[in-house]
Amino acid sequence: MALEFDFVIENRQVAFSGILILICTCVTITVYLRNSKPPQRPERSNGSLAQGRKRFKEPRPAVTTNAEWTPMRELEFYKELYFKLQNLEEHPDTIPVARQAFLVLLSQALEDYDNELNKNILSIKRFDKNELARFLQSHQDRVTSQYHQYISRRQSGGPRELFQNQQAAGDWLREIAPLKLVDGAWLGHLNKITMPFSLRQIVRQTWQVFTEELGNGNRDQHHVKIFEDLLRVFEPELPSPITKAILHPRYKLGNLKYWRAAVAQLLVSLFPHDFLPEILGFNMHFEALQLDTMQAAKELPEVGLNAYYFLLHVSIDNGHSGHAAMAMESVADYIRHITDTEGEVAAGVAWKRIQAGYIFSEWQSRKGSQPTNLIARLNSVSDDRLESKLLAIFGSKIQAAHRLHCGSRVKIGKRLLSEWLDPEAFLVEEWQREFIRCLSTSQPWIYPGDSRKSKLAQEFRWGGRMYGAFTKSELETLELWINSLDYARTPDYYSFIEPITHSWHQISKISNTDKNGKFVHAGKSGSIETANSLPKDPLGKYLGDLPTNPNLSVLLPLWFTQCCLLESFLYAPGRTTDNIGCAVVRFLRAQSGFETEDLIVTGTDEPSTTENGGVVEFGLEMIRHASIPILQDLYSLFSRWPSEFATTMLKLASSPIRNFGVLLGMSVAFLELQEMVSESSNPGLLCPKSSERLALLVRRQYQCLQACLQEIPGGDTRHVDFHRGYDMAKVEINKCF
Ligand SMILES: *[C@@H]1O[C@H](CO)[C@@H](O)[C@H](O)[C@H]1NC(C)=O
Ligand SMILES: *[C@@H]1O[C@H](CO)[C@@H](O)[C@H](O)[C@H]1NC(C)=O
Ligand SMILES: [Fe+2]
Ligand SMILES: [Fe+2]
Repeated sequence: MALEFDFVIENRQVAFSGILILICTCVTITVYLRNSKPPQRPERSNGSLAQGRKRFKEPRPAVTTNAEWTPMRELEFYKELYFKLQNLEEHPDTIPVARQAFLVLLSQALEDYDNELNKNILSIKRFDKNELARFLQSHQDRVTSQYHQYISRRQSGGPRELFQNQQAAGDWLREIAPLKLVDGAWLGHLNKITMPFSLRQIVRQTWQVFTEELGNGNRDQHHVKIFEDLLRVFEPELPSPITKAILHPRYKLGNLKYWRAAVAQLLVSLFPHDFLPEILGFNMHFEALQLDTMQAAKELPEVGLNAYYFLLHVSIDNGHSGHAAMAMESVADYIRHITDTEGEVAAGVAWKRIQAGYIFSEWQSRKGSQPTNLIARLNSVSDDRLESKLLAIFGSKIQAAHRLHCGSRVKIGKRLLSEWLDPEAFLVEEWQREFIRCLSTSQPWIYPGDSRKSKLAQEFRWGGRMYGAFTKSELETLELWINSLDYARTPDYYSFIEPITHSWHQISKISNTDKNGKFVHAGKSGSIETANSLPKDPLGKYLGDLPTNPNLSVLLPLWFTQCCLLESFLYAPGRTTDNIGCAVVRFLRAQSGFETEDLIVTGTDEPSTTENGGVVEFGLEMIRHASIPILQDLYSLFSRWPSEFATTMLKLASSPIRNFGVLLGMSVAFLELQEMVSESSNPGLLCPKSSERLALLVRRQYQCLQACLQEIPGGDTRHVDFHRGYDMAKVEINKCF
């Protein structure tokens, strides 16, 4: 049994002896049994973030076998997420939990789906647009034929089937309310200027569905507003869906099924950089016609209620030119894009991920009110808990391991393993934290997210050099910890979409909701004078010569980044039912180049981007005219032309409510930049046609910003912020010329 093993770590030759390992095993087990007190887990960091995260976690229960408790806990968990996901600015600590919850629910949906015998979307093995169209059509045919059967039952004297009378209709509306009060949220975070430019067209066309859910900035057409009005027949004092008050049991809203469905909807769009195909798939199912929508459209007027919300959805979600058709086009465009840029294998993965998104939507619409094991699974993947469990395990083995590893040259980070595991040093919490941090980045020992590949886990398994040194459950803890190191990979979902290729690895490390996006009053901006009045004539003509030669290396980063300023204001549909929200919707539509809002939904008739681009497309045109190769995204633009102010803008924009005044002021300043560019006689910037169109968009954007400003009462600090934002941006814009 005296086997010799040689392996290389960081260019060092290391020898382990099998006999030693065997002894190690015996001693560690003994020591482990005696030394049962785990070291205290060090706090990861201080400050509000860590505390906030902790507060959020506390109510999460440990694994429980009490069947009564689980649905209750799960319900409360959803309600809390429902609130926090609509108030992310105040609850950035929700994001990591949300990510895990999304992956766990997605995995669960796929598991449940495996047991399905019906023909489902997984039967389309390879993407084929015609086959997909037939599949979606057959889904729609099934729904319409069910509806016809329903109608004939009704015509032959059958009773109403959703609810018998107005009171029952009220109960039904209350039940589905959590979901309907976030209508549109599955696309809420999609429109990010930080998304790759090559996906712009797909993002834009899908985001259009979102703005239509928001009535294109017209209050009377806003889906959430229409539903609120309907529910107010029964609950005149209904609070806004973005408040905590809406969660109160007195309103008798929802049940487990509908709170879960609502949270699923809020979760799916939260990580657009990482989960675009899942969003597109979800969108394709969610926009398909549902039987109860059609039934409600018929039965509500029969009990004296307004059916407009449901009629609207029968007409605009149609598969011919409405949202369902747009959803399928986006999917087809995305697959084509991936095939062209990354090849067939990557397109295959993309298709699987789209299917997963579709299944996720279908699952939450069919899954009844029975609980899932979400809470238990979240607990088992919680990295904090795992990390402290793992440290406890290492701590318990230390006495035994100490002597054994002293001959070993294994290096983890800057230290030898034997130094790390020094019993005295390891008592210090800071030391433990440092150790686990170094360990998590020490390949080949640990490949974050992949316990199978990680050498450390292999060593403890059967056939490994340290087999037996960890018990089975200790090894499981180690493996769970390794897997949790990469949030994107919950094992089940990971195995569903294998093989992993480029498009999966491309996952951006940039969080789209910066936690520190608080506006700082002092500091760098301190030197900027604050004006005391509105810009005299914000869009007045510039007297004298227009600057014709902007410095593109200063202008371009700012040009693209300006799109971020108000983009994050919209993600919670319930926040945009007022006049300010609607004006921001119209502003962003103009910025993206969409046509003036008609009262009818334009659907797929909206002209294509190449003809009718927005601010992003004009930026790309300037890049083309300057013969600069098109950059991949905003971040590659920054690495070419660093811009401190652009980074500041992104930060401020991540807290759009708190910084609303500043962001408005900056937006006005940037409209002036847009106007300068549109009026510039420099043909190297934009072609005459584009210049003309940009001038038009500037006017429209300006009207929307004016509408926002007018809604802010006099004396509100946001007016002061407005001037500060305007001045800050002007100083930077002037540096372009
Ligand atoms: C803890 O908070 C203090 C004061 O807020 C700060 O100065 C310090 O840098 C923080 N430490 C860590 C590790 O974040
Ligand atoms: C443009 O701005 C950059 C960065 O401030 C500067 O390094 C460069 O010299 C400028 N170019 C011109 C032509 O002024
Ligand atoms: Fe809707
Ligand atoms: Fe829709």
